[in-house]
Amino acid sequence: MSGTARLEIDGTVYELDTVVGSEGERAIDISKLRATTGYITLDDGYGNTGSCRSAITYIDGDAGILRYRGIPIENLAGRSSFVETAWLVIFGSLPTVEERDRFSALLGESAMIDEVMRKHFHAFPQTAPPMAILSAMINTLSAHDHGVIQIDDDSDMERAAAVLMSKVRTIAAAAYKASVGEPLVYPRYDLKYAENFLHMMFSVPYRNYEPTPEVAAALNLFLMLHADHEQNCSTSTVRMVGSSKANLFASCAAGVCALWGPLHGGANVAAVQMLQQIYDSGMPVSEFVTRVKNRDAGVKLMGFGHRVYKNFDPRSRILKKSVDEVLAQQDKTDSLLDIARELEAAALEDDYFIERKLYPNVDFYSGILLRAIGIPSEMFTVMFAIGRMPGWIANWKELNDDPKGRIYRPRQIYTGPTDQDWAPRGER
Ligand code: ACO
Repeated sequence: MSGTARLEIDGTVYELDTVVGSEGERAIDISKLRATTGYITLDDGYGNTGSCRSAITYIDGDAGILRYRGIPIENLAGRSSFVETAWLVIFGSLPTVEERDRFSALLGESAMIDEVMRKHFHAFPQTAPPMAILSAMINTLSAHDHGVIQIDDDSDMERAAAVLMSKVRTIAAAAYKASVGEPLVYPRYDLKYAENFLHMMFSVPYRNYEPTPEVAAALNLFLMLHADHEQNCSTSTVRMVGSSKANLFASCAAGVCALWGPLHGGANVAAVQMLQQIYDSGMPVSEFVTRVKNRDAGVKLMGFGHRVYKNFDPRSRILKKSVDEVLAQQDKTDSLLDIARELEAAALEDDYFIERKLYPNVDFYSGILLRAIGIPSEMFTVMFAIGRMPGWIANWKELNDDPKGRIYRPRQIYTGPTDQDWAPRGER
């Protein structure tokens, strides 16, 4: 369904097509605006800009809905593993048994990284941020396997997706091992995706790590909940880079860099640090909430608020439940979880947060879940990147499959000096 919008500029009326998505979201197609009117739109932070048409993920931020390929996240949680969800996100439907087996086998056989590449981990300083290592090493993958960047058909795409998803997990675990001065652990073909990652993270030469089924399930859930989130900062970055026809690995390495920031993937670390600071200082939660409202030194309630969700982030509800289950199963408590619960309750009753529609986002509880699994906070954003890989791959694929795809190249309104003379050094 489409219609027309009218725009009047200086007495001239222009007609613009409107576009309606499959869930009824509406857009005004301004693709010919500059050519016909001489105007561009100005939209700081792109809050009102649809950068593409996409059939991957649907979010209704007001209603708190998130669906991958039409399937609500709540229906996938606890039923589909991360690998099955990844297939759904990348290839468009839940995998058949044959597709599932084939993809799992590809993931298993792609888990090793080149022996030369293993040496790179020891060339980084031990204190190197794992996100720096991750992005560098994703690019390095294509240096070791040129074939994987040449994607000509579906089977190439399937292999590239499996290589990237599988090796990113090996790289992440290796980055951690190098940072703690332990030997890198080889992947095991017999282990499933989440279990294999935990093995590479926590096994040591004298002791094999065997996760409980609950811990493996919690990690699967964490990864699955992060699998895609439409045109967020990192996914838009992957599309931006991919639009120049840069290869999948280069595009996803750029996605890792975008995810690193504390307003995006780095928020899960920031949220736990905030809870830890409240705990260490002994500050009452109400005092912290007052500091946030007064914007003391720019203090924010990390893990709260979202550009799209003006309601509960559905992922935060699922994660909150999972944290309770994992801690109960391990017979553990976490003081930071108690503070988080208190903070959430205080914020949800406070006019500042109510008026601005600020609710817990995925990062509010994800760090606590990762702590419960035993993942150190330096690795939290890396975990997000592993989880988001299917979304980045799916968006890159969608862009790459579009015969009408154009390079992304926004415009700007220039506000700098107008034409100036060049001044010789002595006259400046
Ligand atoms: N704590 C306190 N106040 C907040 C918060 C917060 N977490 N988030 C937004 N606000 C306030 C803003 O100061 C602003 O107030 P004002 O209207 O009085 O100026 C108002 O709420 C609207 O916020 P915006 O800045 O317009 O929200 P925007 O959409 O630009 O930013 C963002 C969204 C970056 C997520 C923001 O809410 C934030 O910084 N949250 C904390 C960081 C975080 O949790 N990030 C993770 C996001 S989810 C993800 O990336 C996976």
